[in-house]
Amino acid sequence: MKKNNPIGLFDSGIGGTSIWKEINKLLPLENSIYLADSTNAPYGLKSKDEIIALSRKNTEFLLDKNCKIIVVACNTATTNAIKELRASYDVPFIGIEPAIKPAANNSQTHRIGILATKGTLNSDLFHKTSASFENIKIIEQIGHGLVQLIENGDIDTPEMFDLLKTYLKPMIEQNIDYLVLGCSHYPYLIPQIKKIIPPKIKIIDSGEAVAKQTKKILVENNLLNLNNKDVNHVFLTNSDPEVLKSILENKHKVIKENF
Ligand code: DGL
Repeated sequence: MKKNNPIGLFDSGIGGTSIWKEINKLLPLENSIYLADSTNAPYGLKSKDEIIALSRKNTEFLLDKNCKIIVVACNTATTNAIKELRASYDVPFIGIEPAIKPAANNSQTHRIGILATKGTLNSDLFHKTSASFENIKIIEQIGHGLVQLIENGDIDTPEMFDLLKTYLKPMIEQNIDYLVLGCSHYPYLIPQIKKIIPPKIKIIDSGEAVAKQTKKILVENNLLNLNNKDVNHVFLTNSDPEVLKSILENKHKVIKENF
């Protein structure tokens, strides 16, 4: 495997670009290929077997393009499929899980809220992690409908605001001091969320931690790209490219491809 080979990322859609942005900020010399499997979004309502099958499909597509490492930029795919992926393919995998640990360790009220998909909140991996914080009350909320709205480009809309208000109000009433965003689509909702929650509630997502972990694993495998004069990023979607383009602030070319 060569250092110049790209980092491969996949998500059920455009949300994993929040992870891509963090990786690109920390590792600006890396080439990348981002796969938005928007046709199959949302993953959060699919069975574990379906999520594993889709994750395999995405991984194999990225490996065909010679990716040196795969970032599963989706909490739902990570919590349901990363074990199977690691067992099947001989390439390093980086996953993303809800950042419960930093929230639980820093909470003063011992109450934290988590907003994530049904697939993530129902996964064994999530149950195992959340059960290890016995003295913390974790208020779980499935973000029904949020991914679909984001995929349609309906981020700053009254419908989104109302949904978020419904999901966040009970958490505010239960005195949480941390809100964990357990889905890579949700960082795009932070401006809306901030209009709803009081400033004393801190919002955490996992993007920065995933970028640091990606760097660490590249270093350990001697795959960090230190010399790249012609950085190349490829964004692929199997659905309408316009929303992906706009979430990338029209700074990158997006190609529609069947995968
Ligand atoms: N971005 C995915 C995640 O982090 C969204 C899952 C979905 O498509 O429901 O979980």
